[in-house]
Parts: sequence; C-alpha cells; structure tokens
Amino acid sequence: MQTAHTLDVLRKTIAKLRADGSTVGLVPTMGALHEGHLTLVRRAREACDHVVASIFVNPTQFGPNEDLDAYPRQLAEDSAMLEAEGCALLWAPGVEEMYPQGFVTNISVSGVSEGLCGAARPGHFDGVATVVCKLFHQVLPDIAFFGEKDFQQLAVIRAMARDLDLTRPHHLSIIGVPTVREADGLAMSSRNRYLSEANRAAATALPQSMKAAIARLEDGQPVAPVLAALEGELLQAGFSSVDYAVLADAASLAPLEHLSGSAARLLVAARIGGTRLIDNMAVSA
Ligand code: PAF
Repeated sequence: MQTAHTLDVLRKTIAKLRADGSTVGLVPTMGALHEGHLTLVRRAREACDHVVASIFVNPTQFGPNEDLDAYPRQLAEDSAMLEAEGCALLWAPGVEEMYPQGFVTNISVSGVSEGLCGAARPGHFDGVATVVCKLFHQVLPDIAFFGEKDFQQLAVIRAMARDLDLTRPHHLSIIGVPTVREADGLAMSSRNRYLSEANRAAATALPQSMKAAIARLEDGQPVAPVLAALEGELLQAGFSSVDYAVLADAASLAPLEHLSGSAARLLVAARIGGTRLIDNMAVSA
C-alpha cells in the first residue's frame, strides 16, 4: 500500500492506478479504524479494482467545545489495518494540505442538514460537506462508500454530490453500507472507546430501546408516546441526556408524526458519561 501526504503525490499515484482503465473506490474516514470502516473497505474492494482510503481528522466539522483534540489519532495502526485489507493507497493529508492558508470556501447543504445532528452541532455538516467535496475532487473515485451509522451525514453528502453534479450519470456513485454492530448490538464507532466499562455496558440500552420502540411503532402504537418512552428508558439506563429521538422520513429526514407507508427511520442521539452516541434503524410501515 502506498501513502500520500500531499496532493501532488496523491494525483500522480491515482493517475498510475487508473492508467489501464481501472476503477477506484474511495473510503473516507477520520481514522481510529474499526470493523465498520474495514467493512467499507471490503465492499469497495468487491466493487472496484483499487481502493483508496483517506484518513483526515477534519477540524471544520468539530464545534468549539467538541472532541477535536481528544479524537483518537493512530496513523501507523490504521495504516497496517488498511494494508491488510488490500487498500492500494492511503490519502493522509495534513491540515495545511487540506486547508492551505487563505482557504475561504464553505459548502452548506440546506434541508437535510438542518435538524437532528445539524441542530445539535451547528456548522458540523458544512464541515463534512466541504471536506467530502474536496476528497471527491482530489481522488476522483468511481464509487465512494459511507456507513449508514451516520445516516444524516450520508443524506447530506448525497444531496451535495447531486447538487454539484458529481453524480450525474456515469460519474460518481455513492454507496451507503449498513451499520456494523458489536455482539450486544451497540453500533461501532470510534467514539465508543471514550466509554468507561460501566457506561459501555449501559450503552447497550440504546440499540435495545430503539428495537423495542420500533416493535411498538410497527405494532401501530402512536409515535409521540413511543418516543417519550424511549427517551425515558435511556435516561433510566444511565444516559445523561437525549439530544433527539425522532421518527423521520428516510429520504428527506423530515419528522413523521405517523407511519405513512413511505420508508421511515428511527434516529437517536444521546449522551452517556460525556460521550455522544448516535444510532438509527429502519422502521417498516
Ligand atoms: O464519517 C466520517 O468519518 C467523517 O465525517 C468523514 C465522512 C470522513 C468526513 O470527514
């Protein structure tokens, strides 16, 4: 596996990978890799001739009081994992390479980015949309792979790529890959490592209570009390607060007051021991 830290090396290496008409898959990450990321790499390997993974802890998607400094950085370990999975190229730019002095552009996606995590984390999705747009232009992949764990992020990226004509026929495809879970159901996340042993055990209440809520919703129970009970169960289990617990239209992410027949999603963000966990699951009408 080759590693590029500068755009110049990245472009030359990608040109070589593509010289014989080979296809390139991109797996964008912020590192601290786990099985969820490696699943994206495996999907990319199945679909494309070469896989490029990026590792960049993007400062513009962290708010002033968020965990940018604490976010785990382990490039050597991540690099070994990517190599073992058969990645062709690791793109690991520094902050100055990604945002040279004088950088003034911001991509802001309205609509899908506004509620849920967008409301709790102002500016977060501008940072995501801007850096992912740059990654798309830098790597020029045929297909890019993202985890459904960050369901709203995936919707924002799809909207950005569509509106900026990146996904017009026969250019870039964006594939969402189902969330990978621990044996007890907790969605894999680089932030799970912040949890103490006790909070890690308590955190299983998140997928469990979500599944119970989905069973009630699919059974026809009214949405508002089901969501209120879900919040109550999480607080009871040891979560300190619930940022949101919302039933939403799976495409627009607009909140739903009833299951209406179109695809729906239950999305939750809740805090435990200072760590903010998010999860989402499909709900059948
Ligand atoms: O999901 C992530 O790891 C990040 O938000 C992404 C898509 C790599 C952009 O920084």
